Amino acid sequence: MKKIFVTRKLLKENEDKLKELFDVTLNANDKIYKPEEIIEQSKGFDGILSSVTDPINADTISKLSDSIKIIANGAVGFGNIDIKAAREKNITVTNTPDVLTDATADIQILLLLGASRKAYEGRLAAEKQDWKWSWDFLLGKQMSNKRLGILGMGRIGRAVAKRAKAFGMEIHYHNRSKLSSELEDGAIYHNTLKGLFEQSEFLSVNCPATPETTKIINKETLGYLKKNTVIGNAARGDVVDDDAMVEAIKNGTVFAYGLDVYNGEPKIHPEYLKLKNIFLLPHLGSATKRTRWDMAYRATRNLEQFFSGNKPQDQVN
Ligand code: GLV
Repeated sequence: MKKIFVTRKLLKENEDKLKELFDVTLNANDKIYKPEEIIEQSKGFDGILSSVTDPINADTISKLSDSIKIIANGAVGFGNIDIKAAREKNITVTNTPDVLTDATADIQILLLLGASRKAYEGRLAAEKQDWKWSWDFLLGKQMSNKRLGILGMGRIGRAVAKRAKAFGMEIHYHNRSKLSSELEDGAIYHNTLKGLFEQSEFLSVNCPATPETTKIINKETLGYLKKNTVIGNAARGDVVDDDAMVEAIKNGTVFAYGLDVYNGEPKIHPEYLKLKNIFLLPHLGSATKRTRWDMAYRATRNLEQFFSGNKPQDQVN
């Protein structure tokens, strides 16, 4: 039986399935291992089932035991793994696309709504019991009849578009390339990020974290936005320059910001905790039982396919 090191505690059903198929080492206490611990713990294993919280950069990969042949990441994003360094070391990397599209798109809508309708301030006022209904109490921004710019029109971006249309939004997007008209489904393509930002009244960040997208939302690009834009980020913290975002919120470029992902999670930029027009969640994008089960199942299937001599369905490198 192949030996698999599972870095984080999974749902019991998923762990049981893994135990049937592999000789697994689990993480009953759900400790988050540091890179050196991952290197040490995975010695003598054939594969790793990793999570979004495991930073597996080029240096870590270079020090991993030569016995490791696959890292099955239990996430759609794989910015936590240097896939090029892995390829050079002949390590296959897989992700878990599709299964978390709906859950994450739902959270993205929650972020846009939570931010635009002042959910956080509302909760604070309700908690303090010092509120009364009044004509101008906590007035937010309505999504209907607004232009939604989607940065990154992959599976999740398109699922956000579908939902946003039900809110009566007009969909615009920027992507590396224009989609087929079937996938576009009426959305308007902008071949530059600037073009998209200039048009957006709401902005949905759905691009993966890659070296090209790191801090793509920065002082300069935030400067392309109109005043009072609402932004939601259910993708990755890495794509945003937090200091520039804080400044844009303070100077009124950004009306409100909803986010589920952070630079250096679980740390959160201290200003985000002070500003009232921030709606934040602790990385809940894929957090439904159904989706988490599916993600671990999909990672398990990738391991199974790999060790039975096939190309895993979700190989990314
Ligand atoms: C979650 O953040 C994922 O990338 O799957």
